[in-house]
Amino acid sequence: MTSWTTDERVTRILGSYPDKRSAVMPLLYVASKEYGYTTSDAMRDVAQLTGLTGAQVQSVASFYTMYKRHGVGTYLVSVCTSISCMLRGGDDVLAAIEDESDTPDGETSDGGLFSVEHVECIGACGGAPAVQVNYELVEGVEPDQARAMCRWLRDGRPDVVLGDEMQELFGGQRSFDWGPKETEGALLPLPAFEPYGTAGEGR
Ligand code: FES
Repeated sequence: MTSWTTDERVTRILGSYPDKRSAVMPLLYVASKEYGYTTSDAMRDVAQLTGLTGAQVQSVASFYTMYKRHGVGTYLVSVCTSISCMLRGGDDVLAAIEDESDTPDGETSDGGLFSVEHVECIGACGGAPAVQVNYELVEGVEPDQARAMCRWLRDGRPDVVLGDEMQELFGGQRSFDWGPKETEGALLPLPAFEPYGTAGEGR
């Protein structure tokens, strides 16, 4: 096992569960951050830490799409194409993003700036079509706005992307517009996840 497995946070995670097997998901997340994505070595480490078999760890990692099995670009653009978003033009939004970012669905752009993926429902059906960038949500996105968002990312290379800001710039109708803004409410204006940026030069 590699050095990350002796980190204090690993000890803390393992200590949070009466059965260490239950720690498989947070440990996979930490391992993925260490290795850049969910590599075979990462899964092997988690298996040894939890006492699960490699096959069991792999079955968890392969079920949840947020455990990436390959390097991911600086900006992971996820486009919902499930029923509500499909009916509201999600496929056109995906096509616009693929074209503007020069990144086919399921792939990462040369240099690693963009990864593009279509995803199942991301819980924003009332604001369809919905898009996420590094898991920050933008709702009511039209194809032209999606293109503008790609250009904004490419030209500005923001270190962090925030849902409220992207919603203001590129979004339309939201599911709920009465919630506190990230800059005003209980939540700090922090990104949901640190960017991956594990493929190519990224920025
Ligand atoms: S169908 Fe797209 S967010 Fe639910």
